[in-house]
Amino acid sequence: MKALKIKGGKKLLGEVSISGSKNASLPILISSILIKNSFQIKNIPKVRDVFTLIELLKFLGIQLKFDEKNRKVIFNKKKKLKIFAPYSIMKTMRAGILVLGPLLAKLKKAKVSLPGGCAIGARPVDLHIFALRKLGAKISIKDGYIYASAKKLSGAVIKFPKISVGATETAIFASVLASGKTRIVNAAIEPEIVDLINFLKVCGAKIKYSKQRIIEIVGVKDLNGKSYRVIPDRIEAITYAVAALITKGKLKINNVKINEVQNVLSFFKKIGATVISKNNHFIVYAKKKLKKFSFSTKPYPGLPTDIQAQLMALATSIKGKCQITENIFENRFLHVSELSRMGADIKIIKNTSIVNGGKILKGAEVMATDLRASVALILAALSAQGTSTVSRIYHLERGYEEIQSKLKKCGAIIKSCNVK
Ligand code: EPZ
Repeated sequence: MKALKIKGGKKLLGEVSISGSKNASLPILISSILIKNSFQIKNIPKVRDVFTLIELLKFLGIQLKFDEKNRKVIFNKKKKLKIFAPYSIMKTMRAGILVLGPLLAKLKKAKVSLPGGCAIGARPVDLHIFALRKLGAKISIKDGYIYASAKKLSGAVIKFPKISVGATETAIFASVLASGKTRIVNAAIEPEIVDLINFLKVCGAKIKYSKQRIIEIVGVKDLNGKSYRVIPDRIEAITYAVAALITKGKLKINNVKINEVQNVLSFFKKIGATVISKNNHFIVYAKKKLKKFSFSTKPYPGLPTDIQAQLMALATSIKGKCQITENIFENRFLHVSELSRMGADIKIIKNTSIVNGGKILKGAEVMATDLRASVALILAALSAQGTSTVSRIYHLERGYEEIQSKLKKCGAIIKSCNVK
């Protein structure tokens, strides 16, 4: 099995260029189900989840080509669409559930596999179903599949009991072509959702959103696909910032929308890092020892759950007790046991981890369990004394484009290897 071997202890110095956002690309590519004409989407990252989604869209009958060299997906006029999204494809990428809303909106019928859980949690889809029923869909679940149908979808008030990125996207997909007005209350407003809204508006959708988590949509007859460039990946940008801090190096992170990472950059400054941000890049390093911190993951604009594992790795290098509370997913501490194998001193009490940091970690053989846990192990290995081997790196390839070459360019000693 493919693994990465990393010799720790080297400061990372230089520049990193951030790729397109995986979590903005997926819903925007899925919008193609709603759009008849040809168009193209730019700045698409070459990551496994994008390739898996492309396989699903092609299976559904979408005519597309991924020009990998130029990071763009070109959509041609569609043939007849299938209504069926199989488990065989859905099981490897949960975001596949997002095809349910568009298939229902376009074909008024859909049979989509329940995506199943993953390492970080059960990942239910009840809020997606809640939204679709509000718009008039009939939904039943049988043998692991969601059967959805609707004579027509009519605008409604969808008041989410809980903030959900995916369910907000499903509600948007299903209401942009519905008849009448939809008001989504307690919506997620992550930058990736705003990017989806901006793309759909460029294609003619009538959508307004507010920081008070209200999204208002007036259904239109049709959408007309237009060329669009996906936002940069804010989580990737923060990951490399942590790489600079954990190795006591200095990195210039290029291609970033500063306003989308401002919340985390302020956090870095609060714990003593130096962050100089300008136009579409920032420079990050630590002139002095970083201060211990406590934080809880929250929906945007709070500190995101997708950087929790990375900040936990950073906490192992900071003297004192850091406290990290995970409020979004029920099982997102799988990296703790692996970090402990490297000598980290971490205690878990319910959904809080207490990291007693400051000791240099020791290189070890560790195993990735999910996308962000895997990158946390890479970060820890970069700071550790000696060599580490991180196995099951297919998790990493789901969401980090060319991470090995990007790290190597900044001085990391990292190479591919095979483990049993
Ligand atoms: C999106 O997942 C992201 N994935 C996740 O990124 C991210 O961690 C998450 O949002 C939170 O920001 C993509 O965008 C492809 P949610 P999503 O619905 O939409 C519960 C990564 O590392 N919930 O906001 O699945 C759910 O179990 C990935 O890039 C329900 O209870 O997340 C969780 O506890 C990981 N019922 C909470 O809500 C539902 O119907 C938030 O989940 C849906 C969700």
